Amino acid sequence: MSGPISTPAGPLLEMRNIHKTFGPVQAVAGLDVAIAPGELVTVVGPSGCGKSTLFNMVAGLDEPDAGGVLRFEDRSVHAHELLGRVSFMPQRDLLLPWRTVIDNAILAIEIEGMPRAEARALALRMLPEFGLAGFENQYPHQLSGGMRQRVALMRTFMFKRDLMLLDEPFGALDALTRTMMQRWLLDVWQQHKRTILFITHDVDEALFLGDRVLAMTARPGRIKLELKVDLPRPRKPELLTDPAFIRQKRILLDAIEEESMKSFQATAARPAHA
Ligand SMILES: Nc1ncnc2c1ncn2[C@@H]1O[C@H](COP(=O)(O)OP(=O)(O)O)[C@@H](O)[C@H]1O
Ligand SMILES: [Mg+2]
Repeated sequence: MSGPISTPAGPLLEMRNIHKTFGPVQAVAGLDVAIAPGELVTVVGPSGCGKSTLFNMVAGLDEPDAGGVLRFEDRSVHAHELLGRVSFMPQRDLLLPWRTVIDNAILAIEIEGMPRAEARALALRMLPEFGLAGFENQYPHQLSGGMRQRVALMRTFMFKRDLMLLDEPFGALDALTRTMMQRWLLDVWQQHKRTILFITHDVDEALFLGDRVLAMTARPGRIKLELKVDLPRPRKPELLTDPAFIRQKRILLDAIEEESMKSFQATAARPAHA
């Protein structure tokens, strides 16, 4: 590696007027998103509004329709060029059942070419921070849901990239585990100083974690509302009942409820047995 570390003056990621259609289905239409270096931006929206579609384009897994603008580190890029340049944890993150905790954690960097012994040594040192100390030789089926998510997150963190994408990482966890994971994620984020795009359908989670919350419309998705979260860090659990938090939550809920109604009506209008 040589040359100065690039610190883009503008946004790290920028999307302008992005559309994506799957056959007859228009998933997103006119999406505008900009993320500054170091920001934790959360995206919230009703189910089916195109959140994962947005994620897949930024992860480089799906190419947007022609016509929009996608920029990364101040350069215009095709989505596929982002593959390998961002780290991501997809909504359905499947740990490989035949690999141990440590070998699941190193999967991405091993594929990238780091020798297994070196990768394992690196991962061993990170295990305590991810609440996995002593579990390195366990298999995924031996772990709780929260622990499996931490292994998946550790894998994502180990694949060191400036931008990290997380698609509903805590969606399948019970409320208590989820709250603990959120607080832990904020600690880890502050330690590692990454830029995070975090997708969720949970308004509390979006507000609790985010510097900014982007609320999407019903499908075809675009950004309906951008809310700067003026809540102090470090974020404490008491924040959830703070009047300032509740006020911002009301704004978000109003926006999302309106969109959920639209998608509900669109579904209900279709004959059930057609
Ligand atoms: N690969 C695909 N092929 C066909 N349709 C898709 C595909 N991916 C997403 N869609 C459709 O696009 C819409 C948005 O999906 P998605 O982005 O997964 O929503 P969300 O993550 O917000 O729940 C849905 O109607 C979904 O069925
Ligand atoms: Mg999704």
